[in-house]
Amino acid sequence: MKRRIFSGIQPSEVIHIGNYIGAVRRWVEMQDDPEKENIFCIVDLHALTVPQDPNALRARTLELLALFLAVGLDPNKSLLFVQSHVTVHAEGAWLLNCVTPEGWLKKMTQYKDKSQKQETVLTGLLDYPVLMAADILFYDTHEVPVGEDQKQHVELARNIAERFNHLYGETFIVPEPAIAKAGARIMGLDDPSAKMSKSLAHTKGHAVRLLDDPKEIERTIMRAKTDSGSEIRFSKDPAKAGVNNLLTIYQALTGKATEHVEADFTNARGYGDLKKAVAEVVIEKMEPIRRRYSEIVSDSAELQRIMRMGAEKARAISEPRLVDVKQKMGLIMTA
Ligand code: TYM
Repeated sequence: MKRRIFSGIQPSEVIHIGNYIGAVRRWVEMQDDPEKENIFCIVDLHALTVPQDPNALRARTLELLALFLAVGLDPNKSLLFVQSHVTVHAEGAWLLNCVTPEGWLKKMTQYKDKSQKQETVLTGLLDYPVLMAADILFYDTHEVPVGEDQKQHVELARNIAERFNHLYGETFIVPEPAIAKAGARIMGLDDPSAKMSKSLAHTKGHAVRLLDDPKEIERTIMRAKTDSGSEIRFSKDPAKAGVNNLLTIYQALTGKATEHVEADFTNARGYGDLKKAVAEVVIEKMEPIRRRYSEIVSDSAELQRIMRMGAEKARAISEPRLVDVKQKMGLIMTA
């Protein structure tokens, strides 16, 4: 039996190289693995957990689908769909809410961080990991490829699955997080002590965004914060986090082993050479994506077709599990 893969990304703000390296790039690789059946979702309901401008959200959802295609996700190889087009997610989240202790949600690191930054904390923000658990569990998912920051949420989905199975009998597969070896946590280029984040993607110097032009990419990387030393090696020392982050980006995009990455810089004349090399590989990877994106994004009929096809296939997979869960929980199903 094939292993089912499910992952998602929010259409909030713009996608940056952290999202690309930690998640989307790996999804593209998984497509050609005959052992895997892949489902990738644009999680627009998750985006609503913080206030959104409705028109901007609609536009970004379509742009993200075009970006999926531009990076190489293929709707004939992977199931691509928009979360809100399949009602199982919201309905499933409600059912899972009713087996999830609220204490589990209040402990989530991301909730604690994000809620501190909001004046009014919406209930959806607290409940966000339960919706994510519904995404994963109603598709009988085995593996969830995500960046390091989502690991805790996948673990919560495992706990919810186990609790449900314990209360109502074997129902859900208990999914595994699949975290990349290189690049699972890309740090901000302006502040390598904090993760690169979509909410800061418009702050000058923080992130390379997927559709930035080569000049902008070069400017951002050349300005990246490093330290006053000159040694170019991977390091866990917080003082060297900037250099470590640049090497991690270089490694993830070139696919080279650690010793080969370090060997590339043994004759470097300082961090300037490192930054130039990183800018070159990032530009080389991003240029074809930007070109393809500009061709795809205007074909709204094709984007609509892909969304419809994806939603139909997604319903066919998830609806039977929803019926099963409702029956087990004591809800009446009419014939
Ligand atoms: P989101 O939209 O914040 O991020 C999408 C993916 O990018 C990864 N990521 C990073 N990886 C490396 N370095 C970084 N700085 C970095 N920032 C983000 C994230 O780990 C993620 O894999 N809740 C999820 C979306 C979601 C989901 C799901 C994922 C909803 N339902 C079901 C998997 C399965 C989120 O907000 O990701």
